[in-house]
Amino acid sequence: MTKTFKSQLALLSLVLLFLGACEKEYSYTLPPKDPPKTSQPTTTLEAAFNTAGLGTINAAYWKTANYLQVSAKDLSKNLLYGDGGLNLTGTFNGLAGFSKGNDPKLTLKAAYDADYLYILAEWNDTTVDISDKTFFFNGNLDPLKSSESNVGWTSQRNSDKLSFAFDVNGATGASGTFASTGCQASCHGTGATAVMTPNSGTVDIWNWSLATSNPLGYAHDLVSTSSGMNADAGGPLAARNTDGTTYRSGAKYEWDGTAQTVTLPSGATTLLDPTFYLLNKTPMVGDIHDGETVYAAVCEHCHGPNGIGGEYSAINGIGSNKKSRSAYKTAMADVGDMGGYWGPLSATQKDDIVTFLRGISGAPGYYLIQPTPGTSTADITVVSNVTPTQIANAMAVSTNKHQKYQVLIKRKLKTNNADDIQFDLLTKKEYVFGVALMDNDGRNHIGSLKETLTFK
Ligand code: HEC
Repeated sequence: MTKTFKSQLALLSLVLLFLGACEKEYSYTLPPKDPPKTSQPTTTLEAAFNTAGLGTINAAYWKTANYLQVSAKDLSKNLLYGDGGLNLTGTFNGLAGFSKGNDPKLTLKAAYDADYLYILAEWNDTTVDISDKTFFFNGNLDPLKSSESNVGWTSQRNSDKLSFAFDVNGATGASGTFASTGCQASCHGTGATAVMTPNSGTVDIWNWSLATSNPLGYAHDLVSTSSGMNADAGGPLAARNTDGTTYRSGAKYEWDGTAQTVTLPSGATTLLDPTFYLLNKTPMVGDIHDGETVYAAVCEHCHGPNGIGGEYSAINGIGSNKKSRSAYKTAMADVGDMGGYWGPLSATQKDDIVTFLRGISGAPGYYLIQPTPGTSTADITVVSNVTPTQIANAMAVSTNKHQKYQVLIKRKLKTNNADDIQFDLLTKKEYVFGVALMDNDGRNHIGSLKETLTFK
């Protein structure tokens, strides 16, 4: 072996060694792939920035978005409405009564894009309550108000609702500031005098109601100050269907028989079922007391007192709102067995009876008002998983078929309206809010006084 060859061999082995080292260095196994993102609980409501289409409940974003699990508590309970407000308090016992005592498991998810904040709220409520103070004539007694008469007009049944409260400008109440105590800052009084108003400052209230805001595709945009809780500038989404001021005042309008077409905030149109909603209205003519008298004399022996319990079918169901007045009269004229009874009545008596039938079946407690786009009232748009068809089906079996409400709220980050909270992300990323749920109620609610919305 020559010296040169030896040294060449040494060099080669060195190179090989080096190569081997190199090889070792470069032969690594790929790191495991990131597991697919799944929803994780968070301690605040985290709004992530996202430009994907966020405006539908089924958008991919919501399937994996993190969520705030709200541990709902009794916020107010054992409250009743004033005289004549009967069976309006399904959440009277707080959590113990909400959705028959089942945990609503309220979760909130949030996101934002360049212009809007989105909040998806999901909770369990196995009963569908779609009335809001329906005017009933000789309606049910209220087991919680046993001393109150049910004779004549009363306001009965309530709606399922979801509410958010935000601080606009440092609202303060007896218990402290909104920033430190949340909703508690806008809570005053007890019992019949309890109101949701702060001592000073302004609280922005977003109130989704199955009865009075969902059908139009909005949440009520309300503002609470020391002078009370009112609709934002531009007016309310719904108004009481009465001329009077009490729960016994009685219904003023009925459906006028024309198609109730509504343009939703998305631009799509929908048709509101008069069985549940009053939009296109006309004064309810006829004297209900005279109608009651004629009914007792002519109809009661077949249909029973107040339209139920007679030999023939009950006629006090919700379906009485489904027909226009003229269609209702025609339907009765067309029943062969009734010819001798209906036919001879005067035109006035017929109107009186129709009004009586509407009263014993329940006339809508509110009529809806389509907001003018661009007004402060129209700031909060909503899509939900509830459709009138689902409601009709659910009412038929008296349970909420979908079990879970899903309500997706969309609002401009900055509306620049004085009655709204502004989400100015350049100056502030955390916002205190309160959230409440109502099951067949408008006074008693469960939820959380203080949570935080964090913009990521
Ligand atoms: C002799 C018994 C009898 C009398 C009296 C009577 N009805 Fe009927 N009514 C019937 C029958 C039968 C039907 C058909 C449905 C059924 O079989 O129950 C009917 C149906 C109806 C319906 C449902 C109509 C529809 O198609 O939606 C209404 C509303 C009604 N009656 C109202 C009245 C009123 C108001 C009076 C009093 C003016 C009256 N009825 C008197 C027997 C009677």
